[in-house]
Amino acid sequence: MKPYLSIENMTQQFPDGNGGALTVFENATFGVEKGEFVVILGHSGCGKSTIMNILAGLAEPTSGAVVMDGTEVKGPSLDRGVVFQNYSLLPWLSTLKNVTFGVAARHPEWTKSQVIEHSTKYLAMVGLEGDVIHRKPSQLSGGMRQRVSIARAFANHPKLLLLDEPFGALDALTRGTIQDELLKIWGGTEQTVFMITHDIDEAILLADRILLMTNGPFARVAESVEITIPRPRNRTEIIEHPNYYAIRNHLVHFLGTRSKAMAGAQSDKSHPNRPQTVRIDKTDGADDPEGRQPALRAVNS
Ligand SMILES: Nc1ncnc2c1ncn2[C@@H]1O[C@H](COP(=O)(O)OP(=O)(O)O)[C@@H](O)[C@H]1O
Ligand SMILES: [Mg+2]
Repeated sequence: MKPYLSIENMTQQFPDGNGGALTVFENATFGVEKGEFVVILGHSGCGKSTIMNILAGLAEPTSGAVVMDGTEVKGPSLDRGVVFQNYSLLPWLSTLKNVTFGVAARHPEWTKSQVIEHSTKYLAMVGLEGDVIHRKPSQLSGGMRQRVSIARAFANHPKLLLLDEPFGALDALTRGTIQDELLKIWGGTEQTVFMITHDIDEAILLADRILLMTNGPFARVAESVEITIPRPRNRTEIIEHPNYYAIRNHLVHFLGTRSKAMAGAQSDKSHPNRPQTVRIDKTDGADDPEGRQPALRAVNS
């Protein structure tokens, strides 16, 4: 059976400025299950935002398809909520109206006060309360604008939440609070989350699975690393888990060395490029009488 969100043989090329073509990625093929929280990690320029724009329906790949819940993604939809890397608020609307705008479109049956109450709740959740919600985006700091953009996406309860480095502009304390809110919102719903970050610790805290991308051009989603740490997770306790540093080291090594070593090679065009599943579980066989130490297992999906 097809996964809930299915990315099939997706290839993206852009003109390279010299009359040729830059291949960002080729035949990328992977899936995301309903309710899953998937994070994509990769160096700047490998094509993460390009993937996000395609999933959002804001760009079309050169070839290949994205299918969500049995329907091909063509154009944007309220079922897919996006937090962009550059927050993209409507500059002529107040902070509050940037949120109510989408909520009213999603719930045409709601009264004006219901829309405002709902939107205000989500703004408060990201720490925006009082007079500030009547200011225009240009009167807010970068971090505040980022939070409006997060509130706007969360308030719409999209089936698929697409987050492109959503916490990049936030200070560490705010980032922690909003990560916790995100986990709370996601935990209470059937929502599927697809998020980009370059923060390894954030990725381990949040994800069910981390997709690792090699450097471009011809970037590949090379691995799908399962986060074998039970939920609920808490940022201070998680580091005590026996799998934490094993997973972290694997990710650091990939980004530090392997993402470069595997980069730049044109693939065999006839095959979809699927990530390899990696499961690291130090707790596996802990009661094994022979005391074997199963460490890192790679399983082909
Ligand atoms: N509209 C575009 N036209 C030409 N090149 C582009 C365009 N968008 C992205 N690129 C190029 O595609 C590559 C991937 O970009 P991007 O998806 O933004 O990477 P990331 O988000 O991983 O940092 C980069 O080399 C970038 O310069
Ligand atoms: Mg990007």
